[in-house]
Amino acid sequence: MRISDCHNVNDFRTMAQQRLPFPIFDYIDGAADDEVTRRRNTAAYEACDLVPNVLAGVEEIDMSVTVMGKKLAMPLFLSPTALQRLFHWQGERGVARAAEKYGTFFGISSLATVSIEEIGESISTPKMFQFYVHKDKGLNQSMIERCKAARFDALTLTVDTIVGGNRERCLRSGFTSPPKITPTSFLSYAAKPAWGLNYMLREKFELSNLKDHVGEGTNFALSVADYFNTMLDQSLNWDMAEAIRKDWDGEFCLKGIMSVEDARRAVDIGATAIMVSNHGGRQLDGSRAPFDQLAEICDAVGDKLDVICDGGITRGSHVLKALSVGAKACSGGRLYLYALAASGQAGVERILGLLQTEIERDMKLMGVTSVDQLSRDNLRWR
Ligand code: LAC
Repeated sequence: MRISDCHNVNDFRTMAQQRLPFPIFDYIDGAADDEVTRRRNTAAYEACDLVPNVLAGVEEIDMSVTVMGKKLAMPLFLSPTALQRLFHWQGERGVARAAEKYGTFFGISSLATVSIEEIGESISTPKMFQFYVHKDKGLNQSMIERCKAARFDALTLTVDTIVGGNRERCLRSGFTSPPKITPTSFLSYAAKPAWGLNYMLREKFELSNLKDHVGEGTNFALSVADYFNTMLDQSLNWDMAEAIRKDWDGEFCLKGIMSVEDARRAVDIGATAIMVSNHGGRQLDGSRAPFDQLAEICDAVGDKLDVICDGGITRGSHVLKALSVGAKACSGGRLYLYALAASGQAGVERILGLLQTEIERDMKLMGVTSVDQLSRDNLRWR
């Protein structure tokens, strides 16, 4: 399978599966418990239909949006995700350059495999840092200081990962960071020598922003769930979130808000954006889909901060549905991680190009020339 055979997110998923050892593919693709929420995140869009208007004169369309004060050329961006150099040797660097080419936001995780400083120096597109609050207060302070010095555009506090989700595919495969070859996974790694050679011969794997404070994940292999359960601060609460917002003193997003009550509290502590998200179904299985929660959250706080709909998006039409309900923009992780795993930066560029083309075509078919013309009048629920 080649990149030119990939016409959508699902095609890239198939190609990623062919390229990656199964423990790594299952880490990206998998979710918590029965993976009901992961499936629902996408299925939710199918319970809602678009109703087009025609004869609208659509030769010029403008799909730009403004998120946290930054103008984006498209209403979809790349959510921060962890460990990207395990999926392809170009990792975060390739993803950042693809986002830059398409003029959209991207982010790196606290568990990124490239440093805050390098991204700050080399990447001009809007960038967010996904902050996981650790027990190690010195580490927390250092990450915030480094992001300020590197002029990150937004700090995104993860609020849905107070403990690790129950990812049974990872339990079965024994997936760890850094990867460890187990008796069950040995054949899978041996069957994907291209991945293995890149992993062994290129730059050594590290969690660049954590390694000076904690060896776990870089020098000692452990599962992502064990990392979260042992390293993160489970006492994190609204007062602490507000203190972080004040310390950061810039655009501040809460990632993983699902209720109206919490969306209102996000406004109260001075957040400038929320990502309505269940972490791709990787944390609380049985949690509602972001798209299903979007209307009530937009009604409550949509005029006070930027509401971003994150997760489950595989099509341009999904983006148009979320924008019609009231989201400022959409974001996703797997939608670009499959493409990264399949063929690095070129893959991420191709999927962004395909999704941009879908958004443009669907806007024309909907009879709108700018995203602010989309509204709930264009939608019907089954
Ligand atoms: C995950 C974390 C690292 O979902 O965001 O695996």
